[in-house]
Amino acid sequence: MKRTKIKDLLHGEGGEVLVKGWVKTRRDSKGGFSFLEINDGSCLANIQVVAEHTLPDYSSIENQLTTGSCVSVRGKLVASKGKGQSKEVQATEIRVYGSAPVDYPLQKKRHSFEFLREIAHLRPRTNTFGAVMRVRNRLAFSIHRFFQDQGFVYLNTPIVTTSDCEGAGEMFQVTTLDLSNPPRADGAVHGKIDFSQDFFGEKTFLTVSGQLEGEIYAMALAEIYTFGPTFRAENSNTSRHLAEFWMVEPEMAFYDLDDNMDLAEEFIKFLLSDVMEHCAEDMEFFNKRIDTTILETLKNIIDNRFERLTYTDAIHQLQKASKIFTYPVEWGFALQAEHERYLSEKVFKKPIIVFNYPEQIKSFYMKLNEGGETVRAMDVLLPNLGEIIGGSQREENYEVLLQRMRDKDIDPEEYWWYLDLRKFGSAPHSGFGLGFERLVQFVTGMENIRDVIPFPRTPKHAKF
Ligand code: 4AD
Ligand code: MG
Repeated sequence: MKRTKIKDLLHGEGGEVLVKGWVKTRRDSKGGFSFLEINDGSCLANIQVVAEHTLPDYSSIENQLTTGSCVSVRGKLVASKGKGQSKEVQATEIRVYGSAPVDYPLQKKRHSFEFLREIAHLRPRTNTFGAVMRVRNRLAFSIHRFFQDQGFVYLNTPIVTTSDCEGAGEMFQVTTLDLSNPPRADGAVHGKIDFSQDFFGEKTFLTVSGQLEGEIYAMALAEIYTFGPTFRAENSNTSRHLAEFWMVEPEMAFYDLDDNMDLAEEFIKFLLSDVMEHCAEDMEFFNKRIDTTILETLKNIIDNRFERLTYTDAIHQLQKASKIFTYPVEWGFALQAEHERYLSEKVFKKPIIVFNYPEQIKSFYMKLNEGGETVRAMDVLLPNLGEIIGGSQREENYEVLLQRMRDKDIDPEEYWWYLDLRKFGSAPHSGFGLGFERLVQFVTGMENIRDVIPFPRTPKHAKF
């Protein structure tokens, strides 16, 4: 007989069923039976199993039917007479796959998320993490759906790379050289390390973004998207930064910055409504237990147009503010999280898209506006989160791009292939990157980004 998922049981007809899962709680009744709450991860809800003590072999398994143990239950699905559930399984046979002694850490009480991070191998069995991972799963599926429905091609870009897309230099180096005794170029003990002897014959890193490779394929397939792991070796110990995170990066030929912003807005709205429709039970849970405004917030975002303003207007708004900021508000300086949040939470009270940033503070690949002071960059900023998307129209003019590389001390020879795209059949094009974990964080209302990825990697932490 095939196992039925609890999710399907709850809507299913009565009759003979086989359920498998982990015991959440057990309650013994004086009437000679016990109630077991079983969960199998298919949904938030548990199924109640009624175990008569007269079941064959019951006495031999009774001690093993404790919180955390894994069981297989054969029985009859019936309407429940008790309160709190509509259906229950009247067991005819119970087998214990694995018992869980009393030192099982997830006994029935609330645990802090900090504690649960230390037991990342068991935390998926809690209600919160089960719900987070089902929502994360749905969002991943919706991302593919959104782009596939529009004919975008899913592209896998390399994880090991020789180029630094963002030019920030915060990359993890990949090497097989013996760190205690690396080969030296001139043979001297303190000479430069000879990376020609390294595995790839040159210095290599973990990618910070698939964009540059994505652009190559957009110049052939017109509309592509990547969805993969990216890495940043920045020492940021915040609730919004990971050293390893997943990024979604669409790249489109023939899109200007306005088209890019339109797509970003449509994309976010699609993802939010799709998850509200398909993860209703889990979203109710977040709304009840994690953030009581989350459903209302998501709905408002879906129903209202994002505010779009230039960087220059954003600076004016901030300079008008009565709030004292930690970081300076001056044209030419980067917007900090405190500025971004003030604008979206206090001034506009909704998502905003800031565009046309000063040339000096943005990457070399962004298209220079007329006048040369700003570039066609855009950031999507959400209330309570800050930046979720960073993107731009790309510089498609060979000479202008070459000059910007030189100005920013980027060796054009290392990016000869990127320049080639501007030499042979160049086209206006744009793209953006969305931080997947920030999206999951925003949708669930979870406070810390470390709690929306199965195994977070952060400074000084790569356990599990
Ligand atoms: O703004 P970023 O750095 O943009 C790029 O990498 C571009 N190459 C994207 C493109 O145009 N194709 O990163 C994009 C997004 C950010 O908006 C943020 O949501 C997320 O990636 N992100 C992080 N998420 C978690 N932890 C970190 N350390 C992150 N750094 C960026
Ligand atoms: Mg950014």
